[in-house]
Amino acid sequence: MHEPFFTKNLLIWNRESNKRQMPWKGEKDPYKIWISEIILQQTRVEQGWEYYKRFINEFPDIQTLASAPEQKVFKMWEGLGYYSRCRNLIAAAKELDTRFGGTFPDKYEDILSLKGVGEYTAAAIGSFAFGLPYAVIDGNVLRVISRFFGIMIPVDTTEGKKRFKDKAHLLLDKDAPGPYNQAIIDLGATVCRPVNPLCEICPLREKCVAFRKNLIDQLPAKAKKIEIKSRHFTYLIIRYQQKVYFRRRTTKDIWQGLYEPPLIESDRLLDEKDLRNHSGFKIFFKDKTFTVKAVSDTYRQKLTHRIVTARFIEIKCSKPLNNIAGAAPVSIEEMDSLSFPKIIRDYLNQKNKS
Ligand code: ADE
Repeated sequence: MHEPFFTKNLLIWNRESNKRQMPWKGEKDPYKIWISEIILQQTRVEQGWEYYKRFINEFPDIQTLASAPEQKVFKMWEGLGYYSRCRNLIAAAKELDTRFGGTFPDKYEDILSLKGVGEYTAAAIGSFAFGLPYAVIDGNVLRVISRFFGIMIPVDTTEGKKRFKDKAHLLLDKDAPGPYNQAIIDLGATVCRPVNPLCEICPLREKCVAFRKNLIDQLPAKAKKIEIKSRHFTYLIIRYQQKVYFRRRTTKDIWQGLYEPPLIESDRLLDEKDLRNHSGFKIFFKDKTFTVKAVSDTYRQKLTHRIVTARFIEIKCSKPLNNIAGAAPVSIEEMDSLSFPKIIRDYLNQKNKS
């Protein structure tokens, strides 16, 4: 019901009215498409654009990326967040180099087998680079389809996932999967927006169930609310002579591999008095001479499932420290080549300015 109308009008809109410009649009090189899609998994197009251009400039092909020093790739990624994606990117480049002889595979299953490449990205690369008939499904696509057909099944249930996948495949134009996929993403991002959609200029409005029945605010339906937890990090910026103590994070989380100062996590941020009374801190600094030089404002970073708040307490030491939670002294110049979580980078940038 109305599938031909949907697909035909979407493609006409794409040809005649879709003015969205992006440096990777119309790109046929699967390597470049892959990079753009991984970047776009975690950032908005406007922000991703600059990262994409810098990344491609630095690592123009599989071989350059596969043989690059890891720290250099991490450094290019700094600020984008989700560093596991950067680690996967490096691993996949090496796989492409060894397992696929340095060329990008043109079979869907092979593309899907690469580290960090899920169904969405495999469909995007497959359709844009090789014209493979796979439909992309992301938040944009689910929104457009659920609204147009008035599908009330929650998108995050097993049944919903299956229903939307079948529908997306049915709607795909098998003769033009690349333009079709780009069109539905663009329509979702620029017209069928989450709030304040531009229904008056939508090419699908005439037969859109959500528009006719006033269901736009209710679709796509979701079963679960995501729970957002708060974490509080008090970072110690410990200075001895001209160096500051940092360590590399080894915990398997989104900041793995990034650098950070020693930190105290608690259920609220600590001030100078709390810090002086903190048991771990007291033991460590018992007979060391130190002065608290500054206590920063509060910094905030919002992640998908977390809100991180941080404070930075500057401490000057008159003796070198050893084994402070695995941290080692780093000079200002060395700091430039390390990658930090965004919240720490924000603090360091602020500090540099003042
Ligand atoms: N988000 C993910 N992939 C995209 C693409 N190809 N164009 C625009 N936004 C996107």
